[in-house]
Amino acid sequence: MQVSKWVNTIITTLTFTFMTAQASELLSTEKLVKDVEQRQTAFSQIDDQQEQIENMLDDDDYNWLQLENISSELTANSASLQRLFVPDSQLDSRAKDKVWDENQKFKAALAKMDNSFVMMNNAIKQQDSNAAKNALKQANKTCRSCHRQFRSLW
Ligand code: HEC
Repeated sequence: MQVSKWVNTIITTLTFTFMTAQASELLSTEKLVKDVEQRQTAFSQIDDQQEQIENMLDDDDYNWLQLENISSELTANSASLQRLFVPDSQLDSRAKDKVWDENQKFKAALAKMDNSFVMMNNAIKQQDSNAAKNALKQANKTCRSCHRQFRSLW
């Protein structure tokens, strides 16, 4: 009697520990999936937003209020990327393992893009169209070079 009670307690404890471990694993996978979705959304929005800004600047359509709005959203998206490439979040995303294997290099490439967008954002706030165009050009140079190295083709 005593022994079977003891065995029962152990089984209950083990089952509980196992279930908790499974639950927390599930939770962390869910979080990783969310991170992937968030970074893909951030990149897609950056893509749209930088095109809108480029068109507006090219057309000499200096609606500064609207430019400032789009630019500040873009800058927020760009900044968010720094915390969205957490380890083990390759999953079935297009991020190559190299993002984490050569993480310093990846972070530097991300910072290069981000710095250019911050410069563009400042120029727009100062209504300096030439400086904004130049900074945007710099930011655009970073897309392809990073994709070539760190994004898979499928
Ligand atoms: C530091 C590296 C880096 C830079 C710089 C970069 N990208 Fe990316 N980009 C990636 C990676 C990695 C992915 C794949 C993300 C994933 O699937 O998890 C990606 C994905 C994307 C996607 C696809 C989103 C989706 O739905 O799958 C778009 C669009 C995109 N980038 C646009 C841009 C544009 C525009 C720029 C430049 C303004 C840029 N990227 C700069 C690394 C970069």
